[in-house]
Amino acid sequence: MQRLTERLWSRRSNWHVGDLAWQRFEHVGREPEWQFELWHRDGEVAAWAWEQRGTDLFLQVDPACADLADEVLKRFPGRKVMVLDAEDHLIAALERQGYSAQDGQYQVFMSHDLAGLPEVELPAGFTVRSITEADLAQRVEIHQRVWHPSRVTEESYRNVMAAWPYRTDLDWVVEAPDGRFAAYCLVWLDARNRVGELEPVGTHPDFRRLGLGRAACFGAMRALRDLGAEQAIVYPVHGLPAEKFYLQLGFGPYARTLTYARD
Ligand SMILES: CC(C)(COP(=O)(O)OP(=O)(O)OC[C@H]1O[C@@H](n2cnc3c(N)ncnc32)[C@H](O)[C@@H]1OP(=O)(O)O)[C@@H](O)C(=O)NCCC(=O)NCCS
Repeated sequence: MQRLTERLWSRRSNWHVGDLAWQRFEHVGREPEWQFELWHRDGEVAAWAWEQRGTDLFLQVDPACADLADEVLKRFPGRKVMVLDAEDHLIAALERQGYSAQDGQYQVFMSHDLAGLPEVELPAGFTVRSITEADLAQRVEIHQRVWHPSRVTEESYRNVMAAWPYRTDLDWVVEAPDGRFAAYCLVWLDARNRVGELEPVGTHPDFRRLGLGRAACFGAMRALRDLGAEQAIVYPVHGLPAEKFYLQLGFGPYARTLTYARD
């Protein structure tokens, strides 16, 4: 799956290697809800499907093998399917198979050029840095506090840290003067395409609107740039505060998700 996702990444793709690693490992015990399937062409993976809870279908299909999209949809009929508005080959297959786009929540895909990032500014006493394995407990605690109630645990985060392409030097935190983690930004590097994905990002509720989320993101994005990446991407939900946050950081929208279902 990761090889196809890496091979196909462009601004017209719904998937980045960071998405697959994070969504696969952020929780433990989800396997009974999932079904994975791969399709091959000429000895390479040309399509994958990831069905969740029997209701939702994630899929990626090489546009050069667009006919496979119909096969994937027939293999998992009637599921709710999320695609990017630029994935013409999937949208055409969905329409052929009787699906239509639904109203409702969607994600905005945004990007930020990594040239000329601003200096990171912090309130007095706060510091920004990447983590080490010794920070695991505190790193999990800040995630849980931001996303309460969260299913992320030390066990699951250890799995995240062991998954390709996770790197501790792209997992950034802001530390408060009392040593607590106040904000964080995890970035995933796709080195082949020189693009990093921010997923996830958060600031402890006691420390919001102090510029700490901004500092965590720019710290991580500078590290990403130093590893050779040229752009960062992120996908906030439209209409939620994070969308304004990323716009304020200088991210610009380039695509959106569409959800398809069959009547
Ligand atoms: C989104 C989030 C990370 C912002 O963190 P933060 O540390 O409060 O953000 P900053 O102080 O760095 O904000 C920088 C700018 O972003 C914008 N911004 C931040 N939060 C905002 C909000 N709730 N509403 C509108 N604009 C907001 C503002 O322009 C802000 O500058 P200002 O305070 O001078 O006006 C934080 O609210 C959070 O953790 N939310 C829950 C988790 C989440 O949604 N994560 C992102 C999706 S992965």
